[in-house]
Amino acid sequence: MKLSSVAALTAGLPSAAAWGGFGHITVAYIASNFVSSETATFFQGLLHNNTEDYLAGIATWADSVRYTKWGRFSANFHFIDAKDDPPRSCGIDLARDCKADGCVVTAIHNYTTRLLDASLPASERAIAAKFVVHFVGDTHQPLHNEDVARGGNGINVKWNGVDFNLHHVWDSSIAEKLVGGVRRQPYAEARRWADSLTAEINAGKFNASRLDWLQGVNLEDPTGTALAWATEGNAYVCTTVLPEGPEAIRGQELGSDYYEAAAPVVELQVAKAGYRLAAWLDLIAARIKSQQSVMGDL
Ligand SMILES: *[C@@H]1O[C@H](CO)[C@@H](O)[C@H](O)[C@H]1NC(C)=O
Ligand SMILES: *[C@@H]1O[C@H](CO)[C@@H](O)[C@H](O)[C@H]1NC(C)=O
Ligand SMILES: *[C@@H]1O[C@H](CO)[C@@H](O)[C@H](O)[C@H]1NC(C)=O
Repeated sequence: MKLSSVAALTAGLPSAAAWGGFGHITVAYIASNFVSSETATFFQGLLHNNTEDYLAGIATWADSVRYTKWGRFSANFHFIDAKDDPPRSCGIDLARDCKADGCVVTAIHNYTTRLLDASLPASERAIAAKFVVHFVGDTHQPLHNEDVARGGNGINVKWNGVDFNLHHVWDSSIAEKLVGGVRRQPYAEARRWADSLTAEINAGKFNASRLDWLQGVNLEDPTGTALAWATEGNAYVCTTVLPEGPEAIRGQELGSDYYEAAAPVVELQVAKAGYRLAAWLDLIAARIKSQQSVMGDL
């Protein structure tokens, strides 16, 4: 399905489309820059792809199935609708905000557990890997952690004079403007952006904070880990997405001053998501390896 038809479809649906494909692909490339070589080998095997694009190539799969008959069950797993009150107060209450069939926090828990479950067939574990890669990206997009106007889908704004909804601006427009446009080659553009953010993490403006980004990351507590990521993303709704509330932004042009304030947050959240995804996949692969060595000892 073309991106434009996905956008058209989601315009009328109760919740958010995902971080645009470009954001997800960039997050995946950053993660593949940081995972250990053993982690890369494990996931290349599970995903049957031994190229360096093994994560990038599956990063948007979850969006491609959510509107299909098979994948409909996963539609609510891409977000959590925080019923907070931005900009006065932000915050997530898992019991209040997660829908009965799940949300992005419980989905990260569920699919992490399924990835680790050696009793499941490899095909199910590959599906779990695809969901984990996607949902770690989603939870870093502020509006995937917000209920107001269906995660901003119901707030119409202008972007360089053209009508868009606020959710789309945060999923796609800001990141695409940041890199100067991605229409022609999204994978090549994402790779380039991922490599430049990787350099910032290794030796640039994000070097000092990268260890902080991994605080609280705990494979024994996937729900707590994902809830912390979602809570952090949600906090940007009060400070940066809706600093003067939802009504102040309706119909406004967001391509200049608003963009200047939002772009650093998008960049930071994409960098964090990729770095944390790498750490998460490393923990998962190491756990699986230790399970296998225990089995080997029997
Ligand atoms: C690996 O993934 C990339 C990106 O989706 C794709 O272009 C390539 O054909 C895949 N390679 C294999 C061996 O499946
Ligand atoms: C866990 O994953 C299974 C398999 O995709 C799915 O059927 C189930 O609804 C998921 N549960 C939650 C809480 O995410
Ligand atoms: C990056 O940060 C580490 C501490 O986390 C420090 O030891 C190192 O010198 C820094 N490197 C660069 C290039 O800034």
